[in-house]
Amino acid sequence: GMIDVFNQLKPSIPYILNGVWVTLQIAFFSALFGFILGIILAIFKISKLKALSLFARFYTSIFRGTPLIMQLSLVYLALPQLFHFDIEPLTAAIITFSLNSAAYMSEIIRSGLNAVDKGQYEAGKALGVPYGKLMLDIILPQAIKNILPALMNEFITLTKESAIVSTIAVTDLMRRAEIVSANMYMYFPPMIVAFIVYYCLTMILTFIGSLIERRLGRSD
Ligand code: ARG
Repeated sequence: GMIDVFNQLKPSIPYILNGVWVTLQIAFFSALFGFILGIILAIFKISKLKALSLFARFYTSIFRGTPLIMQLSLVYLALPQLFHFDIEPLTAAIITFSLNSAAYMSEIIRSGLNAVDKGQYEAGKALGVPYGKLMLDIILPQAIKNILPALMNEFITLTKESAIVSTIAVTDLMRRAEIVSANMYMYFPPMIVAFIVYYCLTMILTFIGSLIERRLGRSD
């Protein structure tokens, strides 16, 4: 009965729950690296140098135009075999998710940069502020403030999409639920635990996002 199933599941619950840290680790580092690369790509996209904007647009179309799970296999299986190197599953996961997220983030950041009042560029230029300093100290902070909710959404997407790292044996939340399922010969109990944890995670992140949004609204 239910009690037996629960008693069988019980010793594995901490193991499943601890997968949260692996899941969040992937989302966090991918968001961080993706953000930095996304800024560079966004600046390339609005650059007057055709080669840079072309490269950034090509990059984005490649990473948005192919399945993430395929990009993951490419980084974890195909490229290491082709070029004879070894890569840890977690490293492959963070690299792939960072590169993928950078494509999405660069679009968010680019639209944020475009939304900053043109007068800000003019004023900066008129005052003789060098381009790099103008972008980093004046334009970018304003852009980031406006796009924070969209960036938070990207973080939530990364958290959920990270479940596909289970296909390359990273022991995230999803993979742990699968492992316990296989050991118990029962899919439902471990899966419902992971299911609930994912849902709580996205609800918490959504809540934090709305708090930030409200704070920003007030400071305007
Ligand atoms: N399911 C989509 C894919 O496989 C998700 C892409 C990742 N999305 C993101 N915002 N980073 O292509």
